[in-house]
Amino acid sequence: MFNRRSFVSVSSFLAGIGLLPASKSAQAKSGKLPVDIAPRGAKGRTERHPTLDLESRQDFMAGVTLFANGELGIASRNRVLDILAAKKLNPQKEMPIDEARALFDGDPVIGMRDRMWHSAHNYEHDILDEYFHANADKYLAELEAADKSGPGTLELNPDMKVPDYTRHEIHQQPGGYVGNPFAGHIYHYATNMFYRGGNDQDQRHISYAAACPTPADGSVKRILDIGTGIGQFAVALKERFPDADVHGIDVGAPMLRYGHMRAIDLDVEVHFAQRLAEETGFPDNHFDMVVSYIMFHEVPAEATRKIYAEANRILRPGGVFYPMDFNHASPRNALRQYGEWKDHRWNNERWRLEYASLDIVEGMRSAGFSVDDQSDKKGTFARVIGTKAA
Ligand SMILES: C[S@@+](CC[C@H](N)C(=O)[O-])C[C@H]1O[C@@H](n2cnc3c(N)ncnc32)[C@H](O)[C@@H]1O
Repeated sequence: MFNRRSFVSVSSFLAGIGLLPASKSAQAKSGKLPVDIAPRGAKGRTERHPTLDLESRQDFMAGVTLFANGELGIASRNRVLDILAAKKLNPQKEMPIDEARALFDGDPVIGMRDRMWHSAHNYEHDILDEYFHANADKYLAELEAADKSGPGTLELNPDMKVPDYTRHEIHQQPGGYVGNPFAGHIYHYATNMFYRGGNDQDQRHISYAAACPTPADGSVKRILDIGTGIGQFAVALKERFPDADVHGIDVGAPMLRYGHMRAIDLDVEVHFAQRLAEETGFPDNHFDMVVSYIMFHEVPAEATRKIYAEANRILRPGGVFYPMDFNHASPRNALRQYGEWKDHRWNNERWRLEYASLDIVEGMRSAGFSVDDQSDKKGTFARVIGTKAA
């Protein structure tokens, strides 16, 4: 079995004794540590940051985010409620976004919290992007070595027509999912910071996989994770259903390459392919389960409708569709709407408002599913389960 950690050790050793050239691109960047620094190992399921410097800077930004989401976040939410109370406005009522902005945009506490959160994420992405590009030879070689290894497989499609709506730097990620060879690396470390330690061991994906609804007859032979990204959900599903064939598709080749390399590290067999969720290329009635995690708030409503129809086509009768994403059932009010708008505007979540206005249950019904909406008003995520008619 290929293991990238041993690959890095061997290449570092060879570079050290002069049999492999050190990376020219890394040498060209001043102030960088040598590219052949010894690997720093892993903490459980996550490869440690490649340098202490990077780890320290990330740790600092994680602390800033923690504060922005913690004490400062609470103060900011309280400011919204205070402003509404001062104007004698009902905090439970919906509010047009222009009205909300006129009330909240100039407030220093709200502004400070938002600036801190967004700048932390921006800076976080930038330092990762800079590091991996400065050491590109080494990290591209690692990916290349993994591409053809197993367990599991990787299918890339360099000729794919990448839809325009995916060509954005969603949530401020440099180059987005499709325009940066290190999108997977950046996504993994940056989301670990976003989860503030709560997903370093894939805890979230493992718990979501454990809670995934299954077909009533209990038969689970084939599972598809759409918008799999770096494959954490797909890997967790394979661990829950070791006898099933698990597939993960995504539009972003760099995301899949990193996901495949990581699945190899974890010795989990997942089949990754660069395919579109709206046109998967799988046969009719093929899967027992089609799932996804936080993809739908990043696609336009029109694409969502196509993806629902495609999920229905490739599921077998009685198969289950479970698209996990932000909760449509939590009450719409000024606080929530202002938050969604800021995510859209400042975090570059292009399709966030379209997602918020979507009728998920009706959309899934129109695509042919019988729908069981178990969403809890207070939960972060919707729990809407679609079953294909038997
Ligand atoms: C927020 S990420 C979620 C990744 C992953 N599911 C996770 O658990 O972190 C959304 C993913 O959906 C992918 N995506 C967006 N539109 C897609 C489409 N039409 N077909 C396939 N993948 C798509 C993106 O490339 C990205 O990797």
